[in-house]
Amino acid sequence: MATPRAGAAAALGHLLSALSRQQQRLWSRPSAPWERPSSIRLLSGTAQASAPFLRGNYREVCERAAREPGPFWGALAREALLWDTPHHTDCEWDFVQGRIRWFLGGRLNVAVNCLDQHVQHYPDRVALIWEKDEPGTEEKVSYRELLDMTCRLANTLKRNGIKKEDRVAIYMPVSPLAVAAMLACARIGAIHTVVFAGFSAESLAGRINDSECKAVITCNQGVRGGRVIELKKTVDEAVKNCPSVKCVFVTQRTTNKIHTGSRDILLEEEMAKESSVCTPEIMDSEDMLFMLYTSGSTGKPKGIVHTQAGYLLYAALTHKHVFDYKQDDIFGCVADIGWITGHSYVVYGPLCNGSTTVLFESTPIYPNPGRYWETVERLKINQFYCAPTALRLLLKYGDEFVKKYDRSSLTTLGSVGEPINHEAWQWFYNVVGDGRCTLVDTWWQTETGGICIAPRPSEKGAEIVPAIAMRPFCGITPVLMDEKGKILEGNDVSGALCIAQPWPGIARTIYGDHERFIEAYFKAYPGYYFTGDGAYRTKKGYYQITGRMDDVLNISGHRLGTAEIEDAMDEHPAVPETAVISYPHDVKGEAAFAFVVLKDDTAHPETVTKELRAIVASKIAKYAVPDHVLVVKRLPKTRSGKIMRRLLQRIVTGNVNDMGDITTLDDSSVITEILDAYEEYKIKHPTL
Ligand code: WT7
Repeated sequence: MATPRAGAAAALGHLLSALSRQQQRLWSRPSAPWERPSSIRLLSGTAQASAPFLRGNYREVCERAAREPGPFWGALAREALLWDTPHHTDCEWDFVQGRIRWFLGGRLNVAVNCLDQHVQHYPDRVALIWEKDEPGTEEKVSYRELLDMTCRLANTLKRNGIKKEDRVAIYMPVSPLAVAAMLACARIGAIHTVVFAGFSAESLAGRINDSECKAVITCNQGVRGGRVIELKKTVDEAVKNCPSVKCVFVTQRTTNKIHTGSRDILLEEEMAKESSVCTPEIMDSEDMLFMLYTSGSTGKPKGIVHTQAGYLLYAALTHKHVFDYKQDDIFGCVADIGWITGHSYVVYGPLCNGSTTVLFESTPIYPNPGRYWETVERLKINQFYCAPTALRLLLKYGDEFVKKYDRSSLTTLGSVGEPINHEAWQWFYNVVGDGRCTLVDTWWQTETGGICIAPRPSEKGAEIVPAIAMRPFCGITPVLMDEKGKILEGNDVSGALCIAQPWPGIARTIYGDHERFIEAYFKAYPGYYFTGDGAYRTKKGYYQITGRMDDVLNISGHRLGTAEIEDAMDEHPAVPETAVISYPHDVKGEAAFAFVVLKDDTAHPETVTKELRAIVASKIAKYAVPDHVLVVKRLPKTRSGKIMRRLLQRIVTGNVNDMGDITTLDDSSVITEILDAYEEYKIKHPTL
């Protein structure tokens, strides 16, 4: 096939393979911790030369994908990605050992896929539209410019000793330089870990130390909602306790001078001195691309590891097909790059597809609640992807803020991060989308790499049921389990949501702790990936996510472990014990409610409560601070001393008449005691 793309791909491929031959001699791959011998199943088959992805009947394609995932994804990988060396084995997997590898033997570079291949054909196409905090000050960056920026940044990293497999923390709000920083790491084979710029110095330090980052890339200050955020100061505080960090690269988001410490390097100044050409490191399909920390049910966040080819392929294909992205469309995902949504649908998916992607720096209500829709009008956004929490906030301000802007460019709307309630879905669909756009509720997780359940793609004209994620993406095989670990067959059933077979985007391990990976995802239902979520399969066979089944909260679409908040609060000297539960919140979806016990009567409850809030903000992040803190004498416990959070939850959600099984409760008088304290608290806090 002599299309220009294929020709250029061959040329680039030739270049890359020449480079790879040189480099093959230079490094050999050390065996990674998760690479232990096990009973590996092979999904391999004979891949077809031309991949039939989603051409033809969707149902048939999905059936084939489920039947033969190896050849299905293998063929797609060959077609959709630009390889230095094609893979020889589609997939090896063993869900008991949590061992998953895709496209074995394949070699490629992710930055080349996201940049160079597009620069070959359309260097001036806009890659990024940076929608800065002040409306009307957007900046456009072409693919040629982004490649230039990425290469200079990559060369700066190299000059400062960063090399393949080194970890680099990125603590920046969304911006072209942040995207270039991610891609620069990918180009030289370094592993990035983006830390959401709202996390505290202590959280940042924890992540840097866990992954032993050699460098941090940050900004002098951030700007959001008209306010300045002191990012560099937070980094300075964090790296005091990070011995692995050799340098801190600082970019200038504002004109404010920054204090320069001994490890600081002014990034733009150094980049200007570097060449705009940087030879890409040829990576194995299964080398790490990045890790991203997320909360689990225990205290310490886990570094979820994604690898090169499988992740990229999955992000790119889901971006294209779930949102029906067409060439020249303008894709607007307003997530921050500090979350997986930003990785997959602001950066990797869209750029691999050669799209124009929007980088949204502001907030939904700055300078007013019309900001999203004014941005849609000004940038002519075609696909708009956001979180239900923002919609719930905006709909309170009324329809005028939406209606005064032209939204005729919109074709697809998407929602992610938490269950979308009917009111928000209808408002998004009818008011924002004027009832004429496809609205997709997309379910996925940091661990899944990309969207797993969403209404699209589907056959032409297929129905969309409001407010549910509905259909598994091709190759995703959802299974519902009952409490005993038995598969629930048929429709109209609820259970634990598992996935039976691997797909290329699934996480490969938890950095430095493969045992925890197995424990968290593959132990509960042996042989299956357990998502941690519950789901209902409707009468028609569609999936509706019902929420987390573990001790994980979802506050404004962000995951937090109850244990994480409790561990932080337990550090207060006057507080021996705490229990955090979640309760429904009309904007955040869920909010945290903390019950705390004080050591003695001398501690002043109000002062301690204030201090506890400050501790959580400084140990984790502001968004993790519980909305309510109630001091109680005791917590409800089982005879063996386990806190019964379920009872506290029922008290807060008003389900006191249905306490469930309390036979294991040590002393039932604790319930009336807490109920009384809660009732008294409610009088003082009528908004609860
Ligand atoms: C958890 C994953 C996926 C990117 C953002 C969050 C919840 C996510 C939905 C949805 C209901 C959802 C789940 C999931 N969740 N999307 N469409 N409907 N719940 O990523 O921080 O890894 O959180 O978010 O509980 O397990 P994350």
